[in-house]
Amino acid sequence: MIKAGIIGASGYTGGELLRLLVNHPDVKPELATSRSLAGKPVAGTHRHLEGFLDLRYENPDPEEIRARCDVVFVAVPHGTAMNYVPELLDDNTKVIDLSADYRLETSVFEKVYDLNHADPRTAVYGLVELHPEAAKEQLVANPGCFPTGAILSAAPLAAAGLIDMAIFDSKTGISGAGISPSGTSHYPNIAENIIPYKLTAHRHRAEIVQELNRLDGNLRNISFTPHVIPTIRGILTTAHIFTKEPLSTGDVQALYEEFYRDKPFVRLPGVPSLTAVRGSNFCDIGFEADAENNRVVVLSAIDNLVKGASGQAIQNMNLMFGLEETRGLWIPATAP
Ligand SMILES: NC(=O)c1ccc[n+]([C@@H]2O[C@H](COP(=O)([O-])OP(=O)(O)OC[C@H]3O[C@@H](n4cnc5c(N)ncnc54)[C@H](OP(=O)(O)O)[C@@H]3O)[C@@H](O)[C@H]2O)c1
Repeated sequence: MIKAGIIGASGYTGGELLRLLVNHPDVKPELATSRSLAGKPVAGTHRHLEGFLDLRYENPDPEEIRARCDVVFVAVPHGTAMNYVPELLDDNTKVIDLSADYRLETSVFEKVYDLNHADPRTAVYGLVELHPEAAKEQLVANPGCFPTGAILSAAPLAAAGLIDMAIFDSKTGISGAGISPSGTSHYPNIAENIIPYKLTAHRHRAEIVQELNRLDGNLRNISFTPHVIPTIRGILTTAHIFTKEPLSTGDVQALYEEFYRDKPFVRLPGVPSLTAVRGSNFCDIGFEADAENNRVVVLSAIDNLVKGASGQAIQNMNLMFGLEETRGLWIPATAP
């Protein structure tokens, strides 16, 4: 059995890692850290895990975590993971970082996050559908939630060199902001409301730019605007992709079918919906071509806590340990 540790286990992605790992046939959750809840039962705060997990939160040093675990998921805020990762890595321990700390080139990270990087090493960007080479790595940078949906929505058109301009308009559920309450998550503020934020300069834009530019180095016009909506989970992205030539919906269908052939977690079911992916690791994509305007409208839906975070991290772990990509993750959504 693979012994797994989670740093930041009391948060939302930590809880979701545990929910998925307790049912993974090859993994034993070994250690769950929290500084504020050390000594308390994990199921005391993650109530949905009652009866599935007999762990208590701990707060050991990285050396002990490394000694006790084959894989460590780092599920802490950006700027924090870089203080743990260097000490976790050794020949026998693999690390999957869910924060932004290793996703970008160091110089880009420092500019976008306005922070000095304490550990300027590079890691593979663990969007499995684009970077299967993550399987060979000891450290993988798990992608951001918005970038996962946005990049997957546009990747086939970018790889074909067809994009002139891409505008990503994303709506996220409130769990994307983590477990700490805020003005945005306060019920009267978010219920029956939609809250746009970071209209032109959300940090996740840098990941979208980085990855689409790896597919098409000439692609320049990339915009991204997020909104918070009154759901708990899920990200629906509407991508307005202006193409260099008019395309039909059939052209787009053929391109996406080919690009995502043998990618088990990308489905092309027509117009996607959040309820059809909630709780699952799927990214559902739908599209319609507007040939008159050289535009393709592409929609993607993911669960931000699963394909946008913890499920994708386990997808990476599966490949890093030579397991089937779908191991422990082949579960349908919780619709309705
Ligand atoms: N929420 C999402 O949908 C989502 C999606 C993709 C990626 N991510 C990324 O995943 C990471 C975790 O997100 P989350 O939503 O799970 O956050 P969260 O709900 O706020 O939980 C953060 C966890 O980190 C611990 N923590 C906070 N500061 C720490 C520190 N300095 N050292 C060690 N532990 C610390 C907290 O517990 P204690 O304070 O008790 O130690 C808590 O368990 C973030 O980097 C986030 O950007 C989140």
